[in-house]
Amino acid sequence: MSSNAVNSHPLRCWAEIDLAALERNLKLIRASLPPHIRYVAVVKADAYGHGLHHTAARLMHAGADLFAVANVTEAAALRELGPGWPILVLSPLLPEEDHALAENDLAATVSSADEVARFDAVGHAAGRPVPVHLKIDTGMGRLGVWHEDAPALCQTILAAPHLRLAGVFTHFASPDDDLAFTAEQRRRFLAALERCPGLKLNEIFVHADNSAGLETMPGTSPFNAVRVGLLQFGVLPHPHSLLAQVHTEPVFSFSTRVGLVKSLPAGTTVSYGRTHTLPHTTTVAILCAGYADGLPRSASNRASVLIRGRRCPVLGRVTMDQTIVDVTDVPGVAVGDDAVLVGRQGGAEITLAEFSHNADTIPWETLTSVTKRVPRLYKTALGT
Ligand SMILES: Cc1ncc(COP(=O)(O)O)c(C=O)c1O
Repeated sequence: MSSNAVNSHPLRCWAEIDLAALERNLKLIRASLPPHIRYVAVVKADAYGHGLHHTAARLMHAGADLFAVANVTEAAALRELGPGWPILVLSPLLPEEDHALAENDLAATVSSADEVARFDAVGHAAGRPVPVHLKIDTGMGRLGVWHEDAPALCQTILAAPHLRLAGVFTHFASPDDDLAFTAEQRRRFLAALERCPGLKLNEIFVHADNSAGLETMPGTSPFNAVRVGLLQFGVLPHPHSLLAQVHTEPVFSFSTRVGLVKSLPAGTTVSYGRTHTLPHTTTVAILCAGYADGLPRSASNRASVLIRGRRCPVLGRVTMDQTIVDVTDVPGVAVGDDAVLVGRQGGAEITLAEFSHNADTIPWETLTSVTKRVPRLYKTALGT
């Protein structure tokens, strides 16, 4: 890969996105669910840093039913891929963004009567109804109408002449580690829906489950869609997840190159703040990536990288553009060698989970923190 170049610039730090794996993952997730369950592909934040256009195009091809993005700017970028694909905006709109709903044919999330009135006015002005998904807060304490008040808001939506209720949903607060509370959220959601007369659940999207939710999704229930982000990128929501049985594969890998190799004497302190002192003569490699690429400073003195198939620990603080690693035990390390931050090299692997753990963060944040400076290279062949 290191012989590759983007626009004739050699690669210093890059992410490789395996679109064929993405497609296989979507199909595996679908196959693990009852056939009537529709697939809402969560592609907010530039498709979790993978690149919106490439990722969404492949997910369309693979059979996603609906796309969920964070805001109208992301939605407008997605709409460039073509008309017709249903797009749901998950975050609240600012009033000055409302017009974008009609312009880009988007569905909005509704949590309040104020939003109902605003979006109804958009539909009125456009001369066609605006699709909306009613969000019910069952214990996340973020977006959505509080579940006890959901029936009233549902009636308001159904009575609004220029809105079309296209879905109802909720979002779990701790689906990975609090099964009892997740079950209580499901119960509150279904109880709220039962108190909404006039709702035709089989004609709209009814969704709650993100990746971790899939572990406890009931076999038969009114839920007829899932809202998946992380798992489609081949990353488990937590280390002991039952979703390992789905056998998704990583889509994202992250690499840099060795820019300099040198020997430093025992007692030398390394990098800003002098947080690491070399106990003996050490061969160090200076990598062409730092926190301005998405290798977080919190990985200082904790992460490892793979060079020549061997693990090399980060020494001292990660800096803006460079990171120092110990290559004393790896024979022959040379300027230009690939250094894998996340991914496989030889028989070794650093998973996104391990990298994130070493950076004191979560995979969602790691993926969305890889910066603009890092070119995304797309692997498209379908393979096996
Ligand atoms: C409302 C909503 N639904 C679904 C998702 C997807 O979650 P996950 O990436 O865990 O599958 C997210 C992610 O943050 C979200 O905010």
